[in-house]
Amino acid sequence: MKPIRGITRGGMNLWYRKHQVFEEYGIDIISSASALPVAYNEFILADAAAIKEITASRTQFPKPVEQYAVLSYFGGNIVASEGEDWKRYRKIAAPAFSERNNRLVWEETVKIMADLFENVWGEQKSITVDHAVDITLPIALFVIGVAGFGRRMTWQEDGKLPPGHSMTFKARGFLSQEALHYVSLDIFVKLLTPGWLLKLGLTERMKRASTAFQELEACQYMLEMIHARRYAEEKEERYDLFSGLLDASEDESDGSQLTDRELLGKYCISISYDAALIELPGNIFIFLLAGHETTAHTLCFTFGLLALYPEQQEKLYRQIKSVIPDDRLPASAQISRSCMHFSVFYETLRLFPPAAAVPKYAAEDATLVTTDSSGNNVIVPVPQGSTIVLNITGLHYNPRYWEDPYAFKPERFHGDWPRDAFLPFSSGARSCLGRRFFETEGIAILTMLVSRYTIEVKEEPEFAGETFEERKERILHAKGGLTLTPIRMPLVFKRR
Ligand code: HEM
Repeated sequence: MKPIRGITRGGMNLWYRKHQVFEEYGIDIISSASALPVAYNEFILADAAAIKEITASRTQFPKPVEQYAVLSYFGGNIVASEGEDWKRYRKIAAPAFSERNNRLVWEETVKIMADLFENVWGEQKSITVDHAVDITLPIALFVIGVAGFGRRMTWQEDGKLPPGHSMTFKARGFLSQEALHYVSLDIFVKLLTPGWLLKLGLTERMKRASTAFQELEACQYMLEMIHARRYAEEKEERYDLFSGLLDASEDESDGSQLTDRELLGKYCISISYDAALIELPGNIFIFLLAGHETTAHTLCFTFGLLALYPEQQEKLYRQIKSVIPDDRLPASAQISRSCMHFSVFYETLRLFPPAAAVPKYAAEDATLVTTDSSGNNVIVPVPQGSTIVLNITGLHYNPRYWEDPYAFKPERFHGDWPRDAFLPFSSGARSCLGRRFFETEGIAILTMLVSRYTIEVKEEPEFAGETFEERKERILHAKGGLTLTPIRMPLVFKRR
């Protein structure tokens, strides 16, 4: 729907419209207000300086936590909280993302990829997948499983049901791949369907969502994880995120060990509880969610772009070979932050930001400044209580900052680039805690894969006559969701 001044701001699907709606208005801050059915005042931004001002001031522009209600399903957590609660969560969670955790991420990711090549793909010269997420979702899950929760999973696990569970866990530990996968996939079904209706399980999707949520909700896997770690016969030095969180929360409660009964009570029955400890389940769930789908989808788009642009893939391959000429497993120190890997990932994240929008609100009256299409300064008063949407897609496709914004050009991240106009991980105090976790994991995956295989688009007879632009549109087609989701990316990995 086109915008009509004074009547409607037009269709606002942030992902599909990119920067268009701002071009139609000739300005990078759009406001709209409504009296009915619900009174609201909203500002949508694609201006880098104004967005920076907002992300830099957490207290003046906090998170509207009510919009994150679905993420609080398993308890209070770092993503869905504000104020003192958030400060406490961040204090407990931040130290877990340590240098040692990063090293663990690298080492384990390399092992997971080596296991895939040796034991799953084996001698095959070419491996075809109908949708690249079939590869990237398990990889991301295995990495978060081991570096997030100290639970190693392998590609060869069978899918037998463990006693007391109705979904399989693909692990030598306690983490349910299926349950986790469907919880992230069906979170909106859960949010939009009343509990009693979901339990009736009228559709397959409802049944699936209901079972997956029960599996995690009953704390079965989480509780088993906590229990196993706390009562392990041999205490090991561990650097996974979960151990970091558990250590920090024990410190908070003066290091006093809880009894088994207390632990169960605290986590599942929730009798009297200690604030520092009760928050673990919520934060565990959020790490799984935050670290799984964002990563898997970004990897999927990266593979698709490299398949569509073989010259970029070749450049990346040449760079990898220049630092690791033989078949040795790569060490993280060999890959520098300024290399092609980063530019390929950053350009993917610019074009396909997993979080298309970041919501905030004005806690007090404020003014923002932007420029219109003629270059004049425009002062925008923002009344207290207004909803603010940081339109990350609009920012990433804004031609004021990015020349030829629809083109895939990793080189734009070499040398100087407009840092304030690149916000896939948000910015300021509420920016992503897992950024280095993702970057380390992504670079290890790309190094391992591109040094051994080429990535190509699968040839399918029904698409034989399509142009490059049609093929690009088909392969990279995505829809919004909890995170931006690729629809179908059929690829072929061929041994070099
Ligand atoms: C491509 C990968 C990723 C992207 C694009 C991404 C993006 C983001 C964004 C946009 C936010 C801010 C959300 C908001 O304001 O509502 C965020 C927050 C967060 N992310 Fe990530 N993320 C990624 C990977 C990860 C990973 C791998 C982890 C953990 C293992 C993680 C953990 C977190 C946490 C804990 C927060 C909350 C920080 C806070 O509010 O203090 N993320 N992420």
